[in-house]
Amino acid sequence: MSITASKLLIADLASTVDHVPSNFIRPVHDRPNLQQFQSFNASSIPIIDLHGLHVSNRSEIIQNIAQACQNYGFFQVVNHGVPEDVVDKMVKVSKEFFDLAESERLKNYSEDSSKTTRLSTSFNVKTEKVSNWRDFLRLHCHPLEDYVKEWPTNPPSFREDVAEYSRNMRRLSMTLVEAISESLGLEKDYIDKALGKHGQHMAINYYPPCPEPELTYGLPAHTDPNAITILLQNHVPGLQVLKDGNWLTVNPVPNTFIINIGDQIQVISNDRYKSVLHRALVNCEKERMSIPTFYCPSPDAVIGPAPTLIDHDHPAQYTKFSYREYYDKFWNRGLSKETCVDMFKA
Ligand code: OGA
Ligand code: NI
Repeated sequence: MSITASKLLIADLASTVDHVPSNFIRPVHDRPNLQQFQSFNASSIPIIDLHGLHVSNRSEIIQNIAQACQNYGFFQVVNHGVPEDVVDKMVKVSKEFFDLAESERLKNYSEDSSKTTRLSTSFNVKTEKVSNWRDFLRLHCHPLEDYVKEWPTNPPSFREDVAEYSRNMRRLSMTLVEAISESLGLEKDYIDKALGKHGQHMAINYYPPCPEPELTYGLPAHTDPNAITILLQNHVPGLQVLKDGNWLTVNPVPNTFIINIGDQIQVISNDRYKSVLHRALVNCEKERMSIPTFYCPSPDAVIGPAPTLIDHDHPAQYTKFSYREYYDKFWNRGLSKETCVDMFKA
């Protein structure tokens, strides 16, 4: 018997079902391998200590970043300068938001992906055929004063706690973007300038426990369309990163952030750095939350390979495009293993 979803949000459906409704079930060839998820703990993505980035250790840290971006497209950072209490408040208020009554959460609900503040579910409910076991609150975060007034007012400390976290994410993003620029042999401010008047968006992802996690995804394999992503995950594992054909599980480490290269840096780097496929699995016991900050170009920024990274041995791999054009394609085609960046190949 097939069951169809009767609630807008998966958080409100999850606890009422003991099977995954049919619209969440992936085809047999496209399901997570949970045995591998549980046993594959030995290796993970590199951890980079940012202590001393602005003083004595800069060249060594930049070298580590270059290696991680080339070999993994992902790394974790420690000693990143974001105070623990800022992170704790962000995690706490996010959980409080998703613990609100259904009617209260639904005040923020929208299926219109052009809205700058909205709660939704899955990925793009308007275009996708298979749903994902995820709800998400998406916020624009820069310039803060333009967007805070749209954010939820419940929980009462939401605006204050999320604004403080956003300011810290902006600072960390700038530091990382400069370091990544240098690691490519570009001027420190090259990427910053290439992004134009950058944007900063955030998602608060909520993955409720799932009765049959072997049949569905929280998020299926995708690459991020933006420049870089800074991800905070709670203590429940679920993120996997593709490395040499294997899915590496990124186990949560306290006080770290997970950084990944998005499609725009792949393009600017002329393929020296790769925007790597990753996905989120769900589990039957615990709710999982993750909070990605997406650092992105201005919609009218024109993105293309950096001229100094183009030469006889490295011809330009991409045509130039506006980020607006790219982003519209990304949302409308749905998440897919053929990464969006291939549509802009030279
Ligand atoms: C994303 C993402 C991974 C996670 O939101 O783009 O990849 O662990 N999330 O939730
Ligand atoms: Ni992602």
